[in-house]
Amino acid sequence: MDSQDVQADLKEILCTKEQIQERIEELAAQIDKDYEGRDLLIVGVLKGAVMVMADLARALHSHVTMDWMAVSSYGSGTQSSGVVRIIKDLETDLMGKHVLIVEDIIDSGLTLSWLKANLESRGPASVEIFTMFRKPEAAKVEIDVKYVGKDIPNEFVVGYGLDYAEKYRNLGFVGSLAPHVYA
Ligand code: XMP
Ligand code: MG
Repeated sequence: MDSQDVQADLKEILCTKEQIQERIEELAAQIDKDYEGRDLLIVGVLKGAVMVMADLARALHSHVTMDWMAVSSYGSGTQSSGVVRIIKDLETDLMGKHVLIVEDIIDSGLTLSWLKANLESRGPASVEIFTMFRKPEAAKVEIDVKYVGKDIPNEFVVGYGLDYAEKYRNLGFVGSLAPHVYA
């Protein structure tokens, strides 16, 4: 796939590479301050959060440890149902740890709301959420998110870890998908 093919699949760029990096630097500085003197475990949700985990981890100045989870939300097609299955669990014991879940995007909020409750049941000192993108208009449950990169319109987006049929994850920016791509 050459770059011209990719451009033709996108309707609009919602966040450039530079904007993403700048925002991550800002949030990392905030996290460094908020967790000063405490050990932090950042938990990336596979596969979408790979890019944001890599950039956030490198932007933090404090010591962090990293672990990964993979979950799949049962549901029809692109709608998440809130019934979540763990595909890959953490290797870390959460007892007494400060945990920050790192996600690519919050849509309905159902997946993260389940995940947060799941991790909270494992005896951690705290569980907070970082999401690079959020679609406020799509929210179905109220969920307390401590760090949000950017609120975006309720459109299907790709890039920076986000995929459509496993494609576009490697883009450095985030854009909305052109309707002809779904057809
Ligand atoms: P919920 O609705 O539970 O779902 O908050 C969150 C998960 O759904 C996926 N998702 C998207 N993936 N572009 C994507 O590539 C999107 O616009 C989008 N919206 C939701 C994503 O896996 C997220 O973790
Ligand atoms: Mg995801």
